[in-house]
Order: sequence, then structure tokens, then C-alpha cells
Amino acid sequence: MTIQYQGDKVRLRPLRHADLPLTLAWHNDPAVRDPMMGFRGPVTEAQEARWFEALAQDQRRAVFGVEALADAALVGYTQLNDLDWISRTANLGIAIGAAERRGQGLGAQALDLLIAYGAAALNLRKIYLRVLAENPARRLYARAGFVEEGCLRAHHYLEGRYHDVILMARFL
Ligand SMILES: CC(C)(COP(=O)(O)OP(=O)(O)OC[C@H]1O[C@@H](n2cnc3c(N)ncnc32)[C@H](O)[C@@H]1OP(=O)(O)O)[C@@H](O)C(=O)NCCC(=O)NCCS
Repeated sequence: MTIQYQGDKVRLRPLRHADLPLTLAWHNDPAVRDPMMGFRGPVTEAQEARWFEALAQDQRRAVFGVEALADAALVGYTQLNDLDWISRTANLGIAIGAAERRGQGLGAQALDLLIAYGAAALNLRKIYLRVLAENPARRLYARAGFVEEGCLRAHHYLEGRYHDVILMARFL
């Protein structure tokens, strides 16, 4: 049986080349980039194209676009990085890129679908993530069954201050 990674609000699907302008805009948007603790510099179209290319070859990560079922729009992306086939762990990331789409349950459903994929398709045992201490996404992760395993104190520099980073994890 093939498991469909689709709920009643969103589905997970591979990213396509046509998605590049949207993902490029999100990677350059501080509201997405900063909480994800990613690269701070401006991302060019050429760099974004290389990111797409690298995804296609990388056996240590699984990246999905999050598509809203209501209008088939790409609203974000979610990923399992640093796949470790021996310990059966992965590092999770998620962003609902368009601000007007946040707070409608799309992220929560995408998270559940990604966890189901990690368990069923990848045979993962444990998924972990890092989140800024003041990011409200901590509540979302807690509701999805992640528990706090630690705190990296004054770990991440952002806007003139060093922020605590919380490690969260869920056994599958
Ligand atoms: C975190 C994120 C993926 C959640 O997706 P979402 O579709 O907005 O979330 P949902 O509607 O399913 O659930 C809402 C919950 O998400 C959390 N949340 C985090 N940032 C939020 C935001 N900007 N707007 C609304 N909810 C947000 C809250 O816990 C909220 O629940 P609460 O209102 O009870 O506190 C999304 O808000 C986002 O992309 N934020 C910016 C990038 C980011 O922080 N990524 C995570 C890095 S670790």
C-alpha cells in the first residue's frame, strides 16, 4: 500500500523548478530566515538554483513542498535533514513562507505528515529540532509530541543579542 502524505488541509509534494521564485523569496525574508537560523546574506537566484540541484543529489535530506489543498498553492516547505541511517535520526525544519497563511493549522498538519513519512517511509526512530527559545513554534512542536531535551544557552546571534536555543525531540 502506498501511503499518501496528504491531510484535509495540505499535502506534501516534491519541490519543482517552478517553485524557485517562491522559495527564493522566503529564503530572503527575515520572518522566515531568522527563526530558521539559516544563512543571513542575500540569496541570489543562482544560489537558490544550486540549492535545488543539491537537494536532488543529497541522500541525507528529504525536502517537501507544503501545498494547500484549497487552492493548490505552495505555502511552505518542510524537511528532514542530517538523516542518520545508523542511529535512525533526523533534524526537522519547517516554514510556512507566506505570512497570511500562518496560524491556520497548515504547519501543524504538515508537521504531522512529515513525522508520519519519517516513521513509515524512512524507518526513523527519533526526530529532533532546534528552535529559538522565544519562537512560539515551541508550542506547535509540543502539541506534535516533541519534548525539550536541552538548552544551548546564549547560542545564536540575532539582532544584537545572543539567544537561547532549545533542543526538542520526539521518539517515533
Ligand atoms: C512555525 C510555523 C511553521 C507554524 O506554522 P503555522 O501554519 O503558522 O502553524 P499552525 O497554524 O498549524 O499552528 C499555530 C501554532 O504555530 C505556532 N506559531 C509559530 N509562529 C507562528 C506565527 N507566525 N503565526 C501563527 N502561529 C505561529 C504557535 O505555536 C501557534 O499556536 P498557538 O497560537 O497556540 O501558540 C510558521 O508559523 C512559520 O513558518 N513561522 C516562521 C518560520 C519558523 O519559525 N519556523 C520554525 C523554525 S524552528
